[in-house]
Amino acid sequence: MRLNAYLARSGVASRRASDELIKGGRVRVNGALGELNTVVADGDVVEVDGHAVSQQGLAYVLLNKPAGVVTTVRDPQGRPTVVSLVGHEARIVPVGRLDVDTTGALLLTNDGPLANRLMHPRYGVEKVYEIEVEGRPTDSVVRRLADGVELDDGPTAPAGVRRLGPSWLEIILHEGRNHQVKRMCEAVGHPAKRLHRSRYAGLDLRGMRRGEWRELTRAEVVALDAATRKT
Ligand code: URA
Repeated sequence: MRLNAYLARSGVASRRASDELIKGGRVRVNGALGELNTVVADGDVVEVDGHAVSQQGLAYVLLNKPAGVVTTVRDPQGRPTVVSLVGHEARIVPVGRLDVDTTGALLLTNDGPLANRLMHPRYGVEKVYEIEVEGRPTDSVVRRLADGVELDDGPTAPAGVRRLGPSWLEIILHEGRNHQVKRMCEAVGHPAKRLHRSRYAGLDLRGMRRGEWRELTRAEVVALDAATRKT
């Protein structure tokens, strides 16, 4: 593993900040100055400013995100973030993004390769949203949402859409563009009033209150891994 990835995995700093530590001559591997292309192997001793660092285990967390919390690691405006809310000892980061006012299922992990695969359009990871919209969408609106609507970055792919109540819809997407659900609802004349993600990549929030989080089980991690290995 590259030295910057090792430092990031160890919770020392992000990969980019780790590069700066390495360039600043603050990192040693087995006593020798670390370089940007240094590779760390099992058993190597890595030190930052003379203090040994060790690898954190991989962590996978499912959060039932409340509204008012931003999906970033740090917020320049000082708002609470999903990372500060969870307060996990591992350096976990959110997989994808939910808007500040969106609630529901959000995965956080320090497993960078899995996170990248989950976000890659190629795997079409399933996301299920429940939306309260303005007005009462007709059957033809539901059909338009399901068939695909024209957005400014192109048409949306076919989606699963069903009515949960007169002003409530469930939309199942396999793509994840910015503000996609809100933009789809807006495009058919029924702006979203409330948006909740009830399921992400097969993970639901059963038994979890808003703001609550839990570690994934081994079986859940294996399932995520398997779902992102298919081509
Ligand atoms: N689509 C949106 O518009 N917002 C979200 O937070 C998630 C999906």
